[in-house]
Amino acid sequence: MSAVLRTAVTGVGSYLPDQVLTNQDLAKIVDTSDEWIFERTGIHERRQAAPDQAVSDLAVEAARKALAAAGRTAEDLDLIIVATTTPDLTFPATAAIVQRKLGAPMGIAFDVQAVCSGFVYALSIADGFIARGNAKCGLIIGAETMTRILDWTDRSTCVLFGDGAGAVVVEPAMGQGTTADRGILSFVLRCEGEKQDLLYVDGGVSTTGQIGKLRMQGHQVFRHAVINIAEAIEAAADKAGVDLSEVDWFVPHQANQRILKGVADRLGIDEARVVSTVAKHANTSAASIPLAMDVAIRDGRIKPGQLVLLEAMGGGLTWGACLLRL
Ligand code: ACO
Repeated sequence: MSAVLRTAVTGVGSYLPDQVLTNQDLAKIVDTSDEWIFERTGIHERRQAAPDQAVSDLAVEAARKALAAAGRTAEDLDLIIVATTTPDLTFPATAAIVQRKLGAPMGIAFDVQAVCSGFVYALSIADGFIARGNAKCGLIIGAETMTRILDWTDRSTCVLFGDGAGAVVVEPAMGQGTTADRGILSFVLRCEGEKQDLLYVDGGVSTTGQIGKLRMQGHQVFRHAVINIAEAIEAAADKAGVDLSEVDWFVPHQANQRILKGVADRLGIDEARVVSTVAKHANTSAASIPLAMDVAIRDGRIKPGQLVLLEAMGGGLTWGACLLRL
């Protein structure tokens, strides 16, 4: 045992746009039903950003709440990372726009693109800055306007996604090098580019010049999600020397209730320890983990000092998991 600098999450916040889109609303647009969507996915409704709301606007709302929860102000920030698939502009990074809108001082700011795994990637990258002493106060945001890249004529995908943002403040915390330490204890990140055809957007800057629409082979994605997420959870726990029975809360990327259940069943995890917000948020890609974490902290389920395992899979295919003590 020796003293070690950890990256602690000191505040969490989230934001959902006002506009609610229910399954019944979608049934007026495509040939679907509340029963079909809920049975297959566990989703009842999702949010849609207003036409004049950019993803940076969602991110800033979530960021302000996270800063308040941490007892910090924008003045304190020296690192901003935004995980997003739906940036305001091709450049500059949404993180730079967030820095300007928050009035944060000059510092490190950039975006991470790992689709639904983006928040886990971004948090793990932040660990490199904070735990090596290169940043003192970081804002890590997952923010998405997924409804802007959906094909609203494709019922197999347009019913699955929503808009929103979640943010965490991260700061250094001195630990003893044990799993009792507060902060990030381990993470694993993966990408298997071979499987990119299973889930992608059919446009981009250097190919079509258009933003494109989301395309997915649902069955295949489902199968890989259960296998890959379970693998990442076990790897992250192993790396930290923690047994899964010691984990207080699992906060998964919110894609589909059946994926959450499939992973829990595979690992023998009681579903009561799995935070689920998919019914009200749908799949908000990189935003879904901090959104879910914020809900469970504010309703009193996740408490300071508890062990929390974040996990995700998304386009790439990317996947990963991060174990931390709050
Ligand atoms: N409403 C009604 N019927 C529909 C709808 C809909 N919204 N969507 C598809 N169907 C129809 C299909 O056309 C098909 O009809 P057919 O048999 O006449 O051809 C039938 O329902 C069955 O379609 P399947 O695709 O086989 O349905 P499945 O049971 O696989 O469920 C789903 C589809 C929900 C997309 C599922 O595959 C899934 O959840 N996959 C995971 C996808 C996911 O969550 N991706 C998110 C991004 S990745 C991530 O975040 C992990």
